[in-house]
Amino acid sequence: MGTALQATGAFYTISLPSQVFSWHPASISPQHAITVESRRPPRHPRPAPSSKQTAAPAQPPRPAPAPASPAPAAGGHRRPDKPALRPQTTTLWDYPSQHYGATQQGDSRYIGATPSYVIWNVISRYSAPGDTVLDPMCGSGTTLDVARDLGREGLGFDLKPYRDDIVRADARRLPVDNEAASLVFLDPPYGDHIAYSDDGRCIGKISAFDPRFYREMGRVFDEVNRVLKPGGVFALYVCDYFEKKKGFAPVGMSLFALMGQHFEAVDVVSVVRHNKSLGQGNWHLAAAEGNFFLRGFNYLFIVRKPLIDEENLPHGGRPSRRGR
Ligand SMILES: C[S@@+](CC[C@H](N)C(=O)[O-])C[C@H]1O[C@@H](n2cnc3c(N)ncnc32)[C@H](O)[C@@H]1O
Repeated sequence: MGTALQATGAFYTISLPSQVFSWHPASISPQHAITVESRRPPRHPRPAPSSKQTAAPAQPPRPAPAPASPAPAAGGHRRPDKPALRPQTTTLWDYPSQHYGATQQGDSRYIGATPSYVIWNVISRYSAPGDTVLDPMCGSGTTLDVARDLGREGLGFDLKPYRDDIVRADARRLPVDNEAASLVFLDPPYGDHIAYSDDGRCIGKISAFDPRFYREMGRVFDEVNRVLKPGGVFALYVCDYFEKKKGFAPVGMSLFALMGQHFEAVDVVSVVRHNKSLGQGNWHLAAAEGNFFLRGFNYLFIVRKPLIDEENLPHGGRPSRRGR
């Protein structure tokens, strides 16, 4: 048995032989910092040695196919089948797995990978077969895999391409034409708790408590506005951040307010975060005693680029691009 690392959204589970985790809220947001403890979790969590994690695993990425119906393991146990993938119909989304179907979408070993059913629901609902779906911060490529499954044209960019079909680019300066995409999906860094790359332009190097984080994300939204067709949808998957010494950073609401500079609100969805590690150790006790909350959901903000009202353009001029 080796080490197993599983990331669900920004939640991680590591299984080591005879070892378990605990996270400590004193140094970093408890949903992000991991320290490995020997044998049993302590009664009270101890400080994490480092607040940073590295997004990419040591091995090259290879989506691992899984059997549709796993064979019973020794002892007669059988992994439960995943429930059927179906459209989410309320504003509370939940699915018990990082991936749907018999294979992976993106790479579960990539820390910070997006649950693929979220992207599947966004693409299914807000685009048509043949449409171009663009992800400016593509990470392990989950959006590209889901787009392919649904017969859409995927365009993926990242400062540190994780595989060959992702193009190296800064999300603030994408190498695509104006209005090239019908749909944009974006799962950005939520602060500086994950080391995605050594690239100094990585927005994941800026703290969620630093005003520069919101300024740079505003520039990403300007670029999303440029590459999106009028009437096209932009979906932002994001989480708030809590650090015991600094307190609460309302990343979600702050970014939603920024999106309003260009886009019209379509809806706001709450996506349940699954974190097996929170069921271990004493995190719920620590949260109750320390008067803080563990992050239980991600926002999915869904907005639309307004259609151009040709009749109201001044003197037949071209429409201006707000904020550019
Ligand atoms: C949360 S991850 C995306 C996860 C991805 N949706 C997946 O499922 O694997 C955020 C990504 O943003 C990228 N990133 C950060 N700053 C960037 C920038 N300025 N331009 C492009 N990509 C950037 C990081 O390299 C990282 O891959």
